[in-house]
Amino acid sequence: MDEHKGRLRASELEDSGDVGVNPTQNLTMGEIIATRFDRRDFLRGSLAVAAISATVGTRALAANEQPAKKASNPISFDFKEIEAGVDQTHHVAEGYDAQVLLRWGDPIFADAPEFDPMNQTAERQARQFGYNTDFIGFIPLNGSADHGLLVANHEYTNEELMFPGVGIQDAKDANFSKMTKELVDIEIAAHGGAVVEIRRVNGQWQVVKDSRYNRRITAATPMDITGPAAGHDRMKTSADATGRKVNGMINNCAGGVTPWGTWLSCEENFNGYFWGKLGDDHAEAKNYKRYGLGTPAYAWGKYYDRFDLTKEPNEANRFGWVVEIDPFDPTFVPKKRTALGRTKHEGAAGITNSDGRYVVYLGDDERFDYVYKFVTAGKVDPQNRAANLGLLDEGTLYVAKYNPDGTGTWLPMVHGQGALTEANGFKNQADVLIETRRAADLLGATKMDRPEDIEANPQTNRVYVMLTNNTRRKEDQVDAANPRANNAFGHIVEMMPEGGNHAAAAFTWEVLVKCGDPSVASVGATFSSETTKNGWFGMPDNCAIDSQGRLWISTDGNNAKATGRADGLWALETEGEKRGTSKHFFRVPVGGELCGPFFTPNDESLFLAVQHPGEAEEGATSTFENPITRWPDFKDGMPTRPSVLVVTKQGGGKIA
Ligand code: FEO
Ligand code: CA
Ligand code: CA
Repeated sequence: MDEHKGRLRASELEDSGDVGVNPTQNLTMGEIIATRFDRRDFLRGSLAVAAISATVGTRALAANEQPAKKASNPISFDFKEIEAGVDQTHHVAEGYDAQVLLRWGDPIFADAPEFDPMNQTAERQARQFGYNTDFIGFIPLNGSADHGLLVANHEYTNEELMFPGVGIQDAKDANFSKMTKELVDIEIAAHGGAVVEIRRVNGQWQVVKDSRYNRRITAATPMDITGPAAGHDRMKTSADATGRKVNGMINNCAGGVTPWGTWLSCEENFNGYFWGKLGDDHAEAKNYKRYGLGTPAYAWGKYYDRFDLTKEPNEANRFGWVVEIDPFDPTFVPKKRTALGRTKHEGAAGITNSDGRYVVYLGDDERFDYVYKFVTAGKVDPQNRAANLGLLDEGTLYVAKYNPDGTGTWLPMVHGQGALTEANGFKNQADVLIETRRAADLLGATKMDRPEDIEANPQTNRVYVMLTNNTRRKEDQVDAANPRANNAFGHIVEMMPEGGNHAAAAFTWEVLVKCGDPSVASVGATFSSETTKNGWFGMPDNCAIDSQGRLWISTDGNNAKATGRADGLWALETEGEKRGTSKHFFRVPVGGELCGPFFTPNDESLFLAVQHPGEAEEGATSTFENPITRWPDFKDGMPTRPSVLVVTKQGGGKIA
């Protein structure tokens, strides 16, 4: 087909500049600043903005009455940091063990077949751990930190590393000619997620294969669509006249675990799975353009009509949602919670607000896209778990606007309010949610540098936003919240909700750190001077806050060429004199990206996921037959395998 000029490798979807670029003329903050400052200063570009940002930071601090609970005596990280670098295996700080817990293909049921890469089938794959885990959550059983349910997303697949005979040269094949229906079916079964009971025995974590909780969810598992967009005409297809039933979740990146023990799994780059383009006059044409549909990275549309827009034009409206799953009930039908909006959802980490409502923070990972939050209408009921299972169907979605003076506003995305009217194509709340991006454009939200994971620190109520990079931001597009043009290394924004109230419309904010090598002046990185040559990082992606309130960051995009180091985990001080000091704790094998991270409640175990190990850098080759690493098995004939690791301290104790 003509439109398949070449396919993107799966991981390139995240960094693809050819799709979904925000077309609006919304003012960037650079433009707002230009109207407020001397033009000659503004033309000095990022220098001027850097100065403004510094001022903004001071103002934000002065205006910030929260957090009242800011740690007065912060606990610093005292592990011995590792050397930054790249080689074929992983490295963890001295005194810690990193155990491989679950690899792609590991059987997760007592009767599941062992992994045999030369004889893989969809049926086998559906009984084994899937590919490329991003989010991991640990949900304790009976309050234990040593026994619980691991929930894991399987975001996407790397054909060239998974399948014999499908080399990288074929990955650019316009017609996916090597991708048979059998291979596509394996991919569908390798997507989705898994629930796996795990237990720590004599210090070692084990998979409980005969657990009644163990479950694989795939890109074909039946799911419900709930909330305001459920049943809308734009959600109906030839297979589902109700608009309330859909098969599968795809490209599930990060997520969250709720206080009532469910798993939130977020559909991210769903656009890459759909073939075909709609004519400009089609009712969904604008909608699909804004989400970057039309450049498939997968062959699925070749064999399944529902993944071809020309045959099933509404199917893509049924992807791009946050999915809630109850891991305690293996028969639970996953729910796509439409009230939380439809974007390329990175994650869905939340916090119970002081008034009992649940607040979920959401990043839309695309260059120049937005930061969102969802506030439930009801309150979390700690006594009635079942009542909480409908909580995410009613509430208000907001999108963030960051003002240049260090204040900010959450703009409500409610049908009939502001520009979200029928005149602008929104007949009801379902339309607002199906086209969340276009609605946010009209509200004048701030265009960010690829918002990834967002976490609230329950000890301080501060919220951390990972902005991974945006090399397309021009000098005249810089703003206070996205202060660098050609932002190759990303930055982290810290937000302070007004009065510590996560439901409040107002917040203040400042840039916590601009990432990259601080020894290269032109990079403009702002790690503290105590940060060593190993301690800095680029491209923040996922993050976690441990029970002591400390921030840990995993990265995506470091490699020999970009930063001279592999991706990994860094610990970043947020409080006191050491604020902005970063230390290197763990690094991945060549070609990988680090996902997770997630701590057990006692901070004694830390779950990490190595995604796409062995993936080649641009211009290089790595295949099933000749991978650049055979991590983690290092056996001839065994391909490299994305895996979940668990880190513990030798001899026991907290990860410190
Ligand atoms: Fe799947 Fe935005 O990372
Ligand atoms: Ca990510
Ligand atoms: Ca990523």
